[in-house]
Amino acid sequence: MAIGEIFLGSFFQVLFDKLTSLTLDYAQREGISKALDEWKVMLETINAVLDGAEDKQLRGDRLVKQWLDDVRDLAYDMEDLLDEFDIEATQAKLNAESSTSRGQLKRKFSFFNQSSSHVSETKVQEINGRLEKILNRKAHLSLRENVVDRSNDTNKRLPSTSLPELQFFGREEEEAQVLELLISDVQNSDATLSIVPIVGMGGVGKTALAQRLYNDPRVNNCFERRAWVCVSDVFDVLDITKTILQSISKWPCKDKDLNWLQVKLKNELSGKKFLMVLDDVWNEKYGEWTSLLKPFEAGAKGSKIIITTRNRPVASITGASPYPLKELSINSCTSLLAYHALGARNFERHPEFETIGKKIAERCRGLPLAAKMLGGALRNKRNPYEWEDTLNNRIWDLPTAQKDEVLPVLKLSYVHLPSYLKRCFAYCAVFPKDYEIERDELVLIWIAEGFIDGRNAKDNILRSRRNHFDELVSRSFL
Ligand SMILES: Nc1ncnc2c1ncn2[C@@H]1O[C@H](COP(=O)(O)OP(=O)(O)OP(=O)(O)O)[C@@H](O)[C@H]1O
Ligand SMILES: [Mg+2]
Repeated sequence: MAIGEIFLGSFFQVLFDKLTSLTLDYAQREGISKALDEWKVMLETINAVLDGAEDKQLRGDRLVKQWLDDVRDLAYDMEDLLDEFDIEATQAKLNAESSTSRGQLKRKFSFFNQSSSHVSETKVQEINGRLEKILNRKAHLSLRENVVDRSNDTNKRLPSTSLPELQFFGREEEEAQVLELLISDVQNSDATLSIVPIVGMGGVGKTALAQRLYNDPRVNNCFERRAWVCVSDVFDVLDITKTILQSISKWPCKDKDLNWLQVKLKNELSGKKFLMVLDDVWNEKYGEWTSLLKPFEAGAKGSKIIITTRNRPVASITGASPYPLKELSINSCTSLLAYHALGARNFERHPEFETIGKKIAERCRGLPLAAKMLGGALRNKRNPYEWEDTLNNRIWDLPTAQKDEVLPVLKLSYVHLPSYLKRCFAYCAVFPKDYEIERDELVLIWIAEGFIDGRNAKDNILRSRRNHFDELVSRSFL
């Protein structure tokens, strides 16, 4: 859940929402009402630098990390206090209603207000003090407002190419199954084109598997035209079409418009059996997907498109059934770690590292990306004690080079999450690592925290709100 610990921005949104709805109910408490308004302004100032600060923290800035920790503590305390106000306000309203309806004395209500208002005001003052200190410290951290430097290392990801990994481990069964999907003729279907979506969590090896298959001689023999496109963040129909056309023809594509490109591509593909790989797709817009596909319909029967994606909803818009890629086996993960750490496929020649190496491989939980990065971090470490440290490390303890490769992978998933799911996911950071929680329990907490609206649910609240949980699962977050 490391990523949930990192991103605070979505939690701030919850605070703003609470602050906005509360001040309306609390008009009678002038002092507090005024303080809450000031909080909003101060929080806006902090919020403006939050993205940049989170990036800096990810890149190992300890002072910023401490500052963010304090901001997080403050945000939680603030939220608790706002919840108290909310309960008080509701209670006061109920008391007022019942006393008016029963014609009772108003004394009870005013007593309640006075006794608790003193405690609340002290708490408000305490939070004010912390907030001001945080703002003062912010001034010394060189945090710029409203900027996430898109060019910095945290956001940069090398585009994939069609060339396969030099050393590929395991996956024999998966490779055979997807190969079959690619080279077999689709029975009982009139469609000329079929889509093979490989779906799985970030770093599980979707691209590596697609690269293996793309370069397999059996696949190569089966298709007359092949193209590889690294789509990634932005699904730009014009750019994707251009890349494909450039790789299968000699047409100069510079400055050409989409119409020109699509007509040419359609002509190039006409009657040909082709294989396209669209690697790392995030697009969930059906219209853009169908627009991209137009020239492909001209191809011969048996043409295929492989897409790799982390998100099931992406696969759904293609209408094809997804091929779920599971974690790599522990043995393959161990070999992968050994290869990147020691340059050998196993620990036979390095028995002193075998036990600790296997433990580290287990910690990778079948994620080749993790095994590769940890292996890389261990490359110059020839003392088993140094390997022990790695076993206990967290992302930000990794050497910069490895961290800069892992973080964009994690961050990309989070960036593509709708904001209502960001809040739900970020909340999971309150649970300790490896903590197990029942789905319904978590959904109830989300409703209680106000992250998802429990009102207006037609029948059973739990049933109708479980889809938030399922959506996080389908996007490989939980
Ligand atoms: N079976 C394997 N053998 C060797 N290396 C592998 C294997 N699977 C993956 N890798 C390596 O692990 C890293 C992560 O794999 P890959 O990029 O394929 O993951 P992914 O599922 O495509 O992730 P993302 O969702 O971020 O695109 C890559 O460097 C890849 O080369
Ligand atoms: Mg990939």
